[in-house]
Amino acid sequence: MQNNTALKLTFRALTGLAFLLQIGQSAECGYRNKPTIQQTQVGFGSPPKFMVEVQNKCPMCPVINIHVKCVSFTQDLVDPRKFKVLNHSDCVVNSGLPLAPLQKVSFNYSHNKFLMSTSNWNFQCE
Ligand SMILES: *[C@@H]1O[C@H](CO)[C@@H](O)[C@H](O)[C@H]1NC(C)=O
Ligand SMILES: *[C@@H]1O[C@H](CO)[C@@H](O)[C@H](O)[C@H]1NC(C)=O
Repeated sequence: MQNNTALKLTFRALTGLAFLLQIGQSAECGYRNKPTIQQTQVGFGSPPKFMVEVQNKCPMCPVINIHVKCVSFTQDLVDPRKFKVLNHSDCVVNSGLPLAPLQKVSFNYSHNKFLMSTSNWNFQCE
């Protein structure tokens, strides 16, 4: 009986702690605020055309050096200042320059779709 009460109290304390930690985390930018890359098909010819939007999902901090897994994307498809191919499946957004909190940058390419995802970035939190 007493053991049970102690367990319950421990459980409450832990839940409270988890809650506080969650609040603490939401004051900063973590993995759940990872920059996103979204592709929308905007041209239906041959080749198709895609609009790519990269967004800083952190409401507090700028983000720099967003790298994208870009498979065999080729540089001739886009202005390198917007999206630079560094290596096979390593591209960098906006010359690595900061995107303000929630800022989006966009570019288009005409080619069969390249599957892309963000791989690396640095938040510039105070
Ligand atoms: C590009 O990739 C190759 C092979 O994985 C690697 O050896 C090389 O260091 C990379 N270059 C850069 C600039 O990251
Ligand atoms: C991309 O294409 C869409 C649809 O054609 C157009 O509205 C948009 O302005 C283009 N974006 C850029 C950065 O050229």
